[in-house]
Amino acid sequence: MTSTLDSAAEIPDYPMTRAAGCPFDPPPVLREKQKEGPLTKVRLWDGSTPWLVTRYADQRALLADPRVSADAYQPGYPSPTALVGSGSPISFIMMDDPEHARLRRMVTAPFTIKRVEAMRPAVQKIVDDLIDDLLAGPKPVDLVEAFALPVPSLVICELLGVPYADHDFFQDNSKTIINRDADPEQRAAALGRLVGYLDTLLGEKLANPGDDLLSGLTERVKSGELSQRDAAGIGVLLLIAGHETTANMIALGTLALLEHPDQLALLRDTADQKLVTSAVEELLRYLHITHNGRRRAVLADIEIAGQVIRAGEGLIMANDIGNRDPDAFPDPDRLDLQRDARHHVAFGFGIHQCLGQPLARMELQVVYSTLYRRIPTLRLATDLDQIPFKHDGSVYGVYELPVTW
Ligand code: HEM
Repeated sequence: MTSTLDSAAEIPDYPMTRAAGCPFDPPPVLREKQKEGPLTKVRLWDGSTPWLVTRYADQRALLADPRVSADAYQPGYPSPTALVGSGSPISFIMMDDPEHARLRRMVTAPFTIKRVEAMRPAVQKIVDDLIDDLLAGPKPVDLVEAFALPVPSLVICELLGVPYADHDFFQDNSKTIINRDADPEQRAAALGRLVGYLDTLLGEKLANPGDDLLSGLTERVKSGELSQRDAAGIGVLLLIAGHETTANMIALGTLALLEHPDQLALLRDTADQKLVTSAVEELLRYLHITHNGRRRAVLADIEIAGQVIRAGEGLIMANDIGNRDPDAFPDPDRLDLQRDARHHVAFGFGIHQCLGQPLARMELQVVYSTLYRRIPTLRLATDLDQIPFKHDGSVYGVYELPVTW
C-alpha cells in the first residue's frame, strides 16, 4: 500500500551543520530520520519542501532512475541557492541524457584507468617535491595552502592545459561558486569570470593547439560538434571538480587520520598497495565531503519505499548518511581502513557518477601512501576545536590545517 506524507517539513532549514562533537559525522538528526523511515521532508532556504532520501539502497535506485532529472531549471528542483541568468549553470553535471551523455563522452578518454595510471609517476613526483618543500620550509605550516590544494591543482592544470600560474584566480572563483552562503549574484559573477577565462584560453588553443584536454575540445569546436561556450563550460566544470574535491579529501582525510592514530599507523607502516586502496575508499565513505546531497527533480510519479513521489517534486539524496547506512556498511560510524567500502556513494551513482573518480583515487592513493611515511611525526599544531570547518560550502572540508612535525 502506498501513501504520501503531508507537505509539512520534518527537518527545517536543511542542510544543517555536522555534529559539534564529531566533525566527521553527518548531522545527528539525519541518523534519527534514517532509523524512522526512508523518506522525509525538509525545508530549504526558499521555503520549498523536497523529499530527503536517507537510505543507501533507495538513493542508488533513484539516482539510476531516468524519471529523475539533474536539470536545475526543472520544476521542483531543490536548488541550494537562487539561480541567476539562464542556461545550464555548470555544464553536463546539470543536464539530462542524451545531451549529458553527448558532452560527457567528449571528455571521458583522459579519465580511463589506463590513462590515469600512466600519470601516476608524475603525480608521485608532484607529491614528493611538495613534501621536500614542506620539510625545507618553516613550521608550523598550513597543510591546505602548502600541500592539499597544490597537488590536485597542479595535476588538473597539466591535464587540461591551464597555466598553474593562474591558480590564485581560479581557486578564488571556485571558492565563491561552491560557497552556499555566497550571494547568488556573486556566485554568478565568479562563474562568469571563469567561463570568460576558459573561453580566452580555448581561443588561444584554437590557434595554437597543444597536447592537452582543452586543445582536444578545440578540435570538436572546429568540427562544429561543440560550441566554444559549451567547451568553456566543460573546462570550468573539470577545473572546479578537479581540484576542490580532492584538495578537501587530502586535508580532511589527514585530519581524520590524525584523530585516529591507530588507523594512521596502519597506513604509515604498510607497503601493501591493497591496504592503501581500501583506505582511500573507506575515507571517501566515512568523510563524504559532497555533503549538500545529490539534488534532482522528479519528471514522472515514482513509487519507492511505500511512498509515491510526484512529478514536479524535488529530491535530495543525502549520500553522507547513505554512506553510514548500517544495512550497507556494518558498524558504519567506525573508521576502519581495512573494511571493503568500494560500494560507497561518495562519487554519486547512475549517469552522473563522478567522471574523475579514477584520477581522484590515484591522487589520494599517492598522497596517503607518501605523506605520513615521509613525515611520520606529522601532528596538529593547534587544538581540534580551533580548526575552521567548511560548514558553509557545498564541499565539506577545512579552510586551514596548521600542522607541524
Ligand atoms: C575525492 C574527489 C572527488 C569527489 C568526492 C567527487 C564527487 C563527485 C560526485 C558526488 C559527483 C556526482 C554529482 C551528481 O550526481 O550530481 C561527481 C561528478 C563529477 N565529477 Fe567528481 N569528485 C571528485 C573528484 C573529481 C575529479 C578529480 C574530477 C576531474 C576533473 C571530477 C569530475 C567530475 C565530473 C566532470 C562530474 C560530473 C559527471 C556527470 O555529470 O556525468 N571529480 N563527483
